[in-house]
Amino acid sequence: MTPIDADLRQRVTTAFQKQFGTNAAHVVRAPGRVNLIGEHTDYNDGFVLPCAIGPSTMVAIGGRGDGQVHVVATDFGDATDLFDLKDIRSSEQGWANYVRGMVDAVQKAGFQLQGANLAIGGNIPKGAGLSSSASLEVAVGQAMLALCGTDIDRTRLAQIAQVAECDFVGTKCGIMDQLISAQGKAGHALLIDCRSLGLTDAPVPADLAIMIVHSGVTRGLVEGHYNERRRQCEAAAKAMGVSALRDADMDMLNAAGLDPVTYNRARHVIGENRRTVEAAAALEKGDLQRLGILMAESHQSMRDDFEITVPAIDRLVDVLQSAIGIEGGARMTGGGFGGACVALMPASRVSDVRAAVERGYQTPDGKIAEIMVETAGPGVRVVA
Ligand code: GLA
Repeated sequence: MTPIDADLRQRVTTAFQKQFGTNAAHVVRAPGRVNLIGEHTDYNDGFVLPCAIGPSTMVAIGGRGDGQVHVVATDFGDATDLFDLKDIRSSEQGWANYVRGMVDAVQKAGFQLQGANLAIGGNIPKGAGLSSSASLEVAVGQAMLALCGTDIDRTRLAQIAQVAECDFVGTKCGIMDQLISAQGKAGHALLIDCRSLGLTDAPVPADLAIMIVHSGVTRGLVEGHYNERRRQCEAAAKAMGVSALRDADMDMLNAAGLDPVTYNRARHVIGENRRTVEAAAALEKGDLQRLGILMAESHQSMRDDFEITVPAIDRLVDVLQSAIGIEGGARMTGGGFGGACVALMPASRVSDVRAAVERGYQTPDGKIAEIMVETAGPGVRVVA
């Protein structure tokens, strides 16, 4: 356990003890993620290449006999929530809906749960596009099941978490975030086929650094844009007579007679699928130059065709790319409209690139951007 994990575990176990007056039975940890490439491809049955990271959400849990769930959220000023397992409705507190939605989805998937006390905390920056919400869902689901001694296949757990987010929270997300939080593998990114849910290991070489830079533009109220992009992709697939854009190619797209916006959205997805599969091969070969080119193309496509970047993010990617040069690359990561950029480079270049970002980029409120250098970590675990 890293010192950061140990601190977080201490935080949630202490909060549990303070709130509920006993010790927790288990602590579950589910990581955030960074997506190296493959954006907005997951709900098009396509490919993504994420890895789990060090920052995580932890849930300390203990049983209670009255069929209720009591929650304390250490990241929200020790705000509390309370609901009955037999009657789960939406809450006015945004964070609580991830907990309620997950418990509801686990039950609807046919698992029998018991009442529980939960203390929750995390150290994934929120609104950074690093999947703090998916990790919360996965951690809550795993904790509720661990309390009952019920095993669950991790891919199944991720699918249930996706249902929670789509049906209860209302973001019509794909499977990537929940699946990598559940199935992440230390030292590896995973090439995920989002149609078959097949996972292919993509080892991250020890001398390759994964840098994450938070632009300081937090994503908020983006569900509308996200769901709109999804609808546009589905419309494009329908117009081409395929079940998902995964099955389309540029010839089909050029023949489809789509309006310019829908055409551009589909062009992004078709290109991004190809780039993602190619990037996994380049990673395997340690071909940083090729990876850098693919990341740059991915970013341009998100900016011009999918239109999900913002000017501050475009500037940050420019600063990163010029500091890195041709051995590696940078792009926005995650759903878009703010959040973080991911950069790949030889480990020996990290301090120079960090200095260049500190010199060349300011967040919208005039601060130095938060920079994390991550290694690929494991997926959800019961840690105590
Ligand atoms: C969000 C969603 C994912 C995925 C990405 C974009 O993170 O939760 O399912 O669609 O955006 O790649």
